[in-house]
Amino acid sequence: MGDDEARLQEPRSRPGQFAMLLAKPSQHLVRRPMSILDEGDGWRSYMVKPVGPATRELVATRVGDPLEASEPLGNGFPLPEELGPGPLLLVGGGFGIAPLHFLARRLDAMRHPPKYSILYGGRTARDVEREVLDDVLGPVLPSTDDGTLGFHGTCVDLCVREVERMEQRTASAVVLTCGPHAMMRALFDAVQDRVPTIHVSLEEIMACGVGVCMGCVAHTREGYVPICTHGPVFAAGEIFGFEHQLSHGESAHE
Ligand SMILES: Cc1cc2nc3c(=O)[nH]c(=O)nc-3n(C[C@H](O)[C@H](O)[C@H](O)COP(=O)(O)OP(=O)(O)OC[C@H]3O[C@@H](n4cnc5c(N)ncnc54)[C@H](O)[C@@H]3O)c2cc1C
Ligand code: FES
Repeated sequence: MGDDEARLQEPRSRPGQFAMLLAKPSQHLVRRPMSILDEGDGWRSYMVKPVGPATRELVATRVGDPLEASEPLGNGFPLPEELGPGPLLLVGGGFGIAPLHFLARRLDAMRHPPKYSILYGGRTARDVEREVLDDVLGPVLPSTDDGTLGFHGTCVDLCVREVERMEQRTASAVVLTCGPHAMMRALFDAVQDRVPTIHVSLEEIMACGVGVCMGCVAHTREGYVPICTHGPVFAAGEIFGFEHQLSHGESAHE
């Protein structure tokens, strides 16, 4: 069975879910959360940015090396079938592109997928790993803050331009985003008046990944909740305006 057939017949995880990973053996005790980049028959892939000791160990692993990996965790984005007719704007900042790649692959596997575009922003061309999206069928619009690749500006500016181009079609538009917290907040502020549905995938430093240690708590409209079990995906309006008490600041997805 080919991977695409397997994905259609037996999808096991939802785009936006993550797994807790650690190289084996490791110098560390606690697994680290990683968004699922893609999944097929018996395999799952990840896109790891080496920002610290545990991610450097993961990046150093080779094909066939053992890994400690949890089952898929968290809620994930709404299922592709639940997203309506679109258009969908998948807006990824830095390594936040990983769960949006998985979502695009699931959309590509639908018989009648909604129209979608991927907006992929980085500070400079080196930050935009364009080849990660080579297997995606929908259009990919890169942006760089310094103009070295694609649209000159942030992916928030690019998203505003795309929303303006949609005109009246914004009534059914959905924005799905993952990236640095400040980017997602700016995106929400910029398009919330015109786009009715915005889903954000939050990041927080996590230890258990299953709602036990309370190390990843966010303040939402409903009060404090662990991001690992109630998220990482939230309706943006449930978070922004209530997030002043997030326990950590910037995301490692830059
Ligand atoms: C749901 C979720 C999905 C994620 N998906 C990916 C992914 O697909 N690819 C990827 O490369 N990374 C992803 N991350 C971030 C990744 O988990 C952290 O970068 C990793 O835990 C760092 O571990 P380390 O030991 O290498 O570095 P550490 O020494 O633990 O951290 C290095 C630096 O990153 C900061 N940091 C650590 N974890 C986080 C975090 N979760 N959010 C914000 N800052 C953090 C630390 O404060 C420190 O400044 C995700 C995080 C979450 C919560
Ligand atoms: S990581 Fe322990 S509660 Fe979320």
